[in-house]
Amino acid sequence: TQPSSAEAAGTKIDNVAHRGASGYAPENTIAAFDKAVEMKADYIEIDVQRSKDGELVVIHDTTVDRTTDGSGPVQSLTYEEIRNLDAGSWKGTEFAGEKIPSFDEILDRYHGKVGILIELKAPELYPGIEESVALELKERNLDKPQNEKTIIQSFNFESMKKINDLLPKVPIGVLTSSRLHTTQQALKEFSAYADYFNPSYTIVTKDLVNQVHEEGMKIQSWTVRSQETADFLLEMQVDGIITDYPDYVDPR
Ligand code: G3P
Ligand code: CA
Repeated sequence: TQPSSAEAAGTKIDNVAHRGASGYAPENTIAAFDKAVEMKADYIEIDVQRSKDGELVVIHDTTVDRTTDGSGPVQSLTYEEIRNLDAGSWKGTEFAGEKIPSFDEILDRYHGKVGILIELKAPELYPGIEESVALELKERNLDKPQNEKTIIQSFNFESMKKINDLLPKVPIGVLTSSRLHTTQQALKEFSAYADYFNPSYTIVTKDLVNQVHEEGMKIQSWTVRSQETADFLLEMQVDGIITDYPDYVDPR
């Protein structure tokens, strides 16, 4: 068989389906995650927040307005109210009835089947969310990943330090689109608790990839929405490409 472009570029680059295969199905829904598995992504990327009554839910924006038929902040709605929303129709009538998944539903459905890149989205809005996430992982023995691929990442670095204390064996990622975070000093500080430095592709250079590797971390970059961007990141030889279109990274 022909090597995929990800393989041809060197060692296998992780193909990470951003919010699921969100180019093809409504982001952060079972439809998008199933599509990612069908497309043979190595990981699904999910955004985790919390309902008013404490349930962990999978949605990107801090309000439900853009991706559902409802409105208001995620944190002001109960889990029941959230589950009654239609999270699919905005993407196409064929997706009507897709729901906002709970975090435990995603863990149960996909762990062991596909890697899960868990983003804590705006954890500063949800005090204690780190403990809740840690509990869900521990209940499933995902706090000692062996063959399981589980990574936790965030733009909030304090939250990731906390996760590293709670789940010392789970790989941690820091997210940024700022060049201020690419100095050697900054990378060294991240490497004290993080295993992945995950930047926007807009700040990726070959030098940055090398520096991140020198500090002992891996690099996964986002967000691919064009073949051109996928080709650029393949050339940069990052370790993972976070993409709305898994087929741009591994044509099948
Ligand atoms: O996985 C990285 C990427 O998801 C970060 O940006 O806004 O899509 O959550 P965002
Ligand atoms: Ca995300």
